Amino acid sequence: MEELRAKNREEEIRQNDYIKMTAEKVRRIADLRGHALKACVVTFGCQMNARDSEKLKGILAESGFLMTEEEQDADLVICNTCTVRENADQHVYGRLGRLTGLKKKKPDLIVGLCGCMMQEDHVVRKIRKSYPVVDLIFGTHNLYTFPELLYRRLTEGKRVVELWDGTDMIVENLPVRRKYSFKSGVNIMFGCDNFCSYCIVPYVRGRERSRNPADILDEIGRLAGDGVKEIMLLGQNVNSYGKKLDGAITFSELLTKVCGVPGIERVRFMTSHPKDLSDDLIRVIAENEKICRHIHLPVQSGSSRILKNMNRHYTREEYLGLVDRIREAVPDISLTTDIIVGFPGETEEDFLDTMSLVEKVGFDSAFTFIYSRRTGTPAARMEDQIPDDVVHSRFDRLLDLVKQTGEERSSRFTGQMKDVLVEDVNREPGYVSGRISENITVHLPGDESDIGKIIPVRLESCRGFYYFGTRQS
Ligand code: SAH
Ligand code: SF4
Ligand code: F3S
Repeated sequence: MEELRAKNREEEIRQNDYIKMTAEKVRRIADLRGHALKACVVTFGCQMNARDSEKLKGILAESGFLMTEEEQDADLVICNTCTVRENADQHVYGRLGRLTGLKKKKPDLIVGLCGCMMQEDHVVRKIRKSYPVVDLIFGTHNLYTFPELLYRRLTEGKRVVELWDGTDMIVENLPVRRKYSFKSGVNIMFGCDNFCSYCIVPYVRGRERSRNPADILDEIGRLAGDGVKEIMLLGQNVNSYGKKLDGAITFSELLTKVCGVPGIERVRFMTSHPKDLSDDLIRVIAENEKICRHIHLPVQSGSSRILKNMNRHYTREEYLGLVDRIREAVPDISLTTDIIVGFPGETEEDFLDTMSLVEKVGFDSAFTFIYSRRTGTPAARMEDQIPDDVVHSRFDRLLDLVKQTGEERSSRFTGQMKDVLVEDVNREPGYVSGRISENITVHLPGDESDIGKIIPVRLESCRGFYYFGTRQS
């Protein structure tokens, strides 16, 4: 353990040295070209990827690049990819087509690809062969070597491809450029060991590894010092945090410690796997007002038979029992979920079980997905893949129900006072938008100076999944 920490620390110093060398090189290129170099990071996928992109941006900014949101203004574009469903892959190929056109006009443009898609051999083979526009490829395990790979690309002038099958390294203290000043994601673990039979994530993100609690608390302390009020603890299955650490700390113990960091007013977490959500965690949430009243609890299906084939390790009844225990402890809590429609072998009866579960639970909202066959997963080899027309009709029925039950549930706070953390100015002039602890969006009168403030608001009217509110202070 100590040996690994020393290795991580050594690597941190090495990569920070590369950043300094790249900054020197970037300065020289900028002088020659007569303008500052700009970089654009394009992010696909989940909160994990969003957080990784903040790290990429931090490294790029420290290396002397100005950041831009517009790829046509950029001298370097990095796409941080997702491969959880087929359409995520298609977005990336579409983007590469556009970048090929852009590079014809701007031959010095550097294009990099990283993230989950790059951990799949068939993808990398295709890109190497058919997309000469790509200059730099790396994966999820070696993201922390980005400073070194960027330096190599700038100095060697030819395509750099480096991919690893896994790593036990967790390199801390590389630069980060956060999207929001007042809230931040914090990784508490990496990878996933659950191998749900449809899911590619364990193959592309590797084995589950928890970060050391002291490192997590240090990072959160620094964020709080920087003005961050809301923390989102990130992991594919946060409820199993710490299971592999020698010091035996549980997720609920970590949560309690995070709430104790001065300056942190709100703590969220994502994602909870129902099989590992303990009664102890429910108690900790109930007892601690700083923990936001929202749990994202992906159910995936309402049929115990399908759940078994998905390798989820809980039944419909166990899930419903868990929901009851959570609501008993924190009655007004928001529950959101993920649901997959059209898993191999799903019958109409199985699907009706999903519909009735949605009705029974009354989720605040649900992300619904059409099952996507991912090469290499057990479900991709299952017989009885469901025809597209059947899946689409089920999907539409589910979406209607989710909308209807979500709207009913979301309106429960009408007329109540709630604290809103203001996140953005609204497109509607004179309005800002933020969230209540239950993760529901509220629009209220305000201006840019309100961003990052927690404001008491009366929730006047609910329009579907969001509220209009008036300020009370
Ligand atoms: N670790 C999280 C989920 C991460 S992926 C959890 O277990 O809850 C986010 C969501 O994508 C999943 O909850 C699932 O609903 C969906 N998903 C994953 N693989 C999929 C596939 N092959 N087809 C369709 N949806 C999928
Ligand atoms: Fe995928 Fe399951 Fe892991 Fe979530 S818990 S990332 S769905 S394998
Ligand atoms: Fe996608 Fe990777 Fe997240 S596959 S959903 S970006 S972990």
